Amino acid sequence: MVSLVRSAQLDDATAIARVHVATWRSAYRGLLPDEFLASLSQSHYEERWRRSLQDNQARVYVAEHAEGVVGFASGGRERAGESGYAGELYAIYVLEEAQGHGHGRRLVQAVVSGLREMRLADMIVWVLRDNGSARGFYERLGGVYVRSQPISIGSAQLEEVSYGWKSLDDLRY
Ligand SMILES: CC(C)(COP(=O)(O)OP(=O)(O)OC[C@H]1O[C@@H](n2cnc3c(N)ncnc32)[C@H](O)[C@@H]1OP(=O)(O)O)[C@@H](O)C(=O)NCCC(=O)NCCS
Repeated sequence: MVSLVRSAQLDDATAIARVHVATWRSAYRGLLPDEFLASLSQSHYEERWRRSLQDNQARVYVAEHAEGVVGFASGGRERAGESGYAGELYAIYVLEEAQGHGHGRRLVQAVVSGLREMRLADMIVWVLRDNGSARGFYERLGGVYVRSQPISIGSAQLEEVSYGWKSLDDLRY
């Protein structure tokens, strides 16, 4: 399969929003309320991604193959003041039907190279505690459990956990 990961452009906002909503619906089924997942609006996320791609706070990358964009990831400066971490993987989503083909690994590699360009030396990521599949992925990449905290998404009260890499050299691809 011909596939590549590249920096996202402004006109990728539509495709990123499509992947965002579809992947939330498949990955978070059973974790987030059905009504909440059904209510996610692609046009709302398209607008949010357009703003994010314009303000340049985050590095955003897309994975695409012949049929178009199948995944995206973003990262940048750590956002919540977590001690010991300056870099953060903000989001990574690969369409269910495209998972398990290395897109996730290549997207993480791209984010890590973006963090290096920003002179950030480490990385943290937050993931829902019950998202066992993404946790397995981060553990596979050498992420070390940091801590957990509550998070509200829509009307749901959940727990999220973080994984950290104290050095970007600790990523195990
Ligand atoms: C998590 C996600 C980004 C991984 O991307 P992917 O393209 O499926 O993963 P890759 O094919 O690049 O896998 C890279 C490596 O991780 C491993 N891996 C992937 N998922 C794994 C899991 N659940 N447990 C253990 N290892 C896993 C793969 O086996 C592969 O290692 P290998 O080559 O030694 O076999 C993707 O599955 C996804 O988008 N999931 C749904 C959305 C989500 O939960 N996002 C994270 C929100 S915090």
